[in-house]
Amino acid sequence: MSRKMKNKIVTNLQIERIASEGKCVGHHDGKVVFVSGVAPGDVVDVRITKGKSSFMEGEPVAFHQYSKDRIDPFCSHFGTCGGCKWQHINYDLQKTYKRQQVLDQFQRIAKVALPEVLPTLGSEQIQYYRNKLDFTFSNKKWLTLEQIRSEEDFDRNALGFHIPKMFDKIIDVDHCYLQGGISNDVRNELRSFALENKLSFYDIRNQVGLLRNLIIRTTSTGQTMVIVQFGESDPESIDQVMDFLKNRFPEITSLLYVINTKGNETFHDLELVTFAGLPYIEEEMEGLKFRIGPKSFYQTNSEQAYELYKVARNFASLKGDEVVYDLYTGTGTIANFVAKKAKQVIGVEYVEAAIEDAKINSQINGIENTLFYAGDMKDILNEEFIQNHAAPDVIITDPPRAGMDEKVVQMLLRLEAPKVVYVSCNPATQARDVALLAEKYDVVKIQPVDMFPQTYHVENVILLTKRTS
Ligand SMILES: C[S@@+](CC[C@H](N)C(=O)[O-])C[C@H]1O[C@@H](n2cnc3c(N)ncnc32)[C@H](O)[C@@H]1O
Repeated sequence: MSRKMKNKIVTNLQIERIASEGKCVGHHDGKVVFVSGVAPGDVVDVRITKGKSSFMEGEPVAFHQYSKDRIDPFCSHFGTCGGCKWQHINYDLQKTYKRQQVLDQFQRIAKVALPEVLPTLGSEQIQYYRNKLDFTFSNKKWLTLEQIRSEEDFDRNALGFHIPKMFDKIIDVDHCYLQGGISNDVRNELRSFALENKLSFYDIRNQVGLLRNLIIRTTSTGQTMVIVQFGESDPESIDQVMDFLKNRFPEITSLLYVINTKGNETFHDLELVTFAGLPYIEEEMEGLKFRIGPKSFYQTNSEQAYELYKVARNFASLKGDEVVYDLYTGTGTIANFVAKKAKQVIGVEYVEAAIEDAKINSQINGIENTLFYAGDMKDILNEEFIQNHAAPDVIITDPPRAGMDEKVVQMLLRLEAPKVVYVSCNPATQARDVALLAEKYDVVKIQPVDMFPQTYHVENVILLTKRTS
């Protein structure tokens, strides 16, 4: 960034519209200015944090006019916590902006003929909608400017979320509006217990300390899984913590812990210990049960996941005699959800433990027409696989944010399934893949679905049909 631009204040910038990733856009001196923490209709002074030849980025330092679409954020951590950045925008408008984001990405990146982008399917619950939260223990509590200036001595132990872009600073959360049930009580009471008993909170920079991480997973059926990650192997203290949780919260149906002395918080490669209850929780959807182990992915907004899967199933419009490939199947949720309307469903997924869960999920629901395979999609979906399996009539694909590997897209073009239902949590990479699929496919339906109210994230489902001529 040119020195001239850094920290320059652009005054009275009119915020015009939302751009990607929740930032808003204004114009100054013929350049686009991306600003975070504002709303279309605001007029602000902006401090420039990044300046390039064609655009600038900045943050608001003074407001001259507030947008009429603003509402009061409900959370005391708003503005510091990176979690729900759109609390200041009313929900109807959030849905409008999400639809607009999908349209923008498809026009800008896919550059193909589009049907009408349907209005965003909103989430019934716009607070307490998440079934999984991940809290970090730290001995480097984030302090506000006022707290620092007060020169008071603050206890620096914290349990909460990472401050955006500051990996070792943790905001000490006292109420989070994202997860209901006993989530807030478990976090707060565990923190108090740890402080009273002088148990050490993790030092992220130096990688020492007993209490490292807390994961709480809940289900719509009222079950709760709690996983505590310990950064040190100290059996006495571990028992003390786990006994406290077991006795204080009999509602916990699955209580586990893991000792993690690695450099990162992931525990896919570590063994978890079930301290009390079962090693899994169970979610239910349309009478189907889905077993969720501590390492399994499950859509984080359970109720809206049902709406999402219904959209995917409607787009697939199965009659009962089709072979369906469910790519990036996770624990086989979509595969099992559509199985009774198909002849056969073949699910493919990277994580072996998830594929084991997918098989169990078919078994416990008496579903016999599913097959599941574990492996990297670009390797597993090869000529041999195609020779050994029936050709798909419908492909449902739900890749991670990065979208599909180009090799996978090429294989889809080679497979020539009459219908492809593409579910995505990142319309930009979805649009990139669609640009390639356009060689043989038309986009005929587009339905944005809001899985994450109060954030700029949008899930998008599209139906592609194979061109006949
Ligand atoms: C967005 S999730 C979809 C899960 C599932 N469809 C559902 O609704 O629960 C994406 C899944 O893709 C899997 N995945 C990521 N990269 C992969 C790859 N290269 N090959 C196969 N699966 C992959 C992840 O493990 C994850 O389960």
